[in-house]
Amino acid sequence: MVLLLIERSYKHYSVKPGTIYLRGGDPNFATPAHIRDAAIKAIIEGYTHYAPSEGIPELREAIASYYSKYGINYDPDQIMVTAGGSPALHIINVSMLEPGDEVLVFDPSFSRYFGEPPTLGASVVPVPLSKQGYHLDPEDLKERVSDKSKMIVLCNPNNPTGTVYSKDELKAIADIAIDNDLVVISDEFYNEFVYDGKEHTAISSLEGMRERTFVLVGGTKMFNFTGWRLASLIIPQGYYEKVQKKTRFIGVRPATFVQRAGTEAFNAMSTKYGKKVMKAHREEYDRRRQFFCKRMDEIEGITCHTFEGAFYAYPDVSSFGVPVPKFIDELESKEGVLVGSGEGHGGVSVIGNKSMAYGHIRPALVQDVDVLEDAANRIERFTKKLIK
Ligand SMILES: Cc1ncc(COP(=O)(O)O)c(C=O)c1O
Repeated sequence: MVLLLIERSYKHYSVKPGTIYLRGGDPNFATPAHIRDAAIKAIIEGYTHYAPSEGIPELREAIASYYSKYGINYDPDQIMVTAGGSPALHIINVSMLEPGDEVLVFDPSFSRYFGEPPTLGASVVPVPLSKQGYHLDPEDLKERVSDKSKMIVLCNPNNPTGTVYSKDELKAIADIAIDNDLVVISDEFYNEFVYDGKEHTAISSLEGMRERTFVLVGGTKMFNFTGWRLASLIIPQGYYEKVQKKTRFIGVRPATFVQRAGTEAFNAMSTKYGKKVMKAHREEYDRRRQFFCKRMDEIEGITCHTFEGAFYAYPDVSSFGVPVPKFIDELESKEGVLVGSGEGHGGVSVIGNKSMAYGHIRPALVQDVDVLEDAANRIERFTKKLIK
């Protein structure tokens, strides 16, 4: 019998005692009990052997069925189960990119989109999101497309700005992708965490897009099993063989009993109970963002918008004139608050202070409101001393 919809369990390896950890996107929630139970049951039942390299059939079916909520019926054979989102991104990059290719990446967005293409000889072209609310002016994308462009990387909702792209924005991105024959990565890791009655639209549901869109379907963040390493990748029909050829030797699949638990997690999303658990998580994140973003924005010298999706705040601290790495180090050593670098999640490594990510930190709202309040007070104390 499950008594609590949301349980807390936080044992993070890289946290010093007394430090408030807001660096990584690793929520303080326990994996929901029905999913943990499914993993234990799977171990007892002997699901401890090799799984097929693309994932167990029942999980691929569960993911296809979950994703049909966007009106797209994917063949489970297009779904590859991976040990988290990072390997899924790696698989796409190594399968698609050739030296000399250009990858269009919205700035700011998730760090790994910027870091990996150069290791394969490709280059990243940052496409700025507007400073006001971090949405897209399609002209900014259009004017950066060249004959070397291969791929557009979209994170929706966006880590770290929380942008939930509107249908019109997605339609504009889709038109540019189709006109220039580009593939799109749609990273939808945070699709369940959207607030203020906004709706998450899957770009693959737009006309002409399912055949050119790789979709990253969450798992790690959605069900709070970051350490279990389970996510998946939907591969557009014409690309499956190409991907398989490149990735045959990587062995990216999670443990078989983890996949059985993942099957329970995705199947539960069509039940009242599963929906209730997800809603409880969404409401808790909503409370945190309402509190923390407003509190940050009130601090002298900091501007912080209230994000629309995911669970990251994105304060601009550039007015203090302290380089972000130093700001983060000193905030940790002097006040015991560990936040992520907002500059890492953006084009600073490519275009320096012209990047929209310049001067930002990224506190992940992975702690309860009372802890966030403590963190905000410490940040305020720290920044007051910078002004003096
Ligand atoms: C948007 C996005 N995609 C992918 C990942 C990678 O996830 P994983 O931890 O499952 O490798 C993350 C992790 O923070 C993320 O925020």
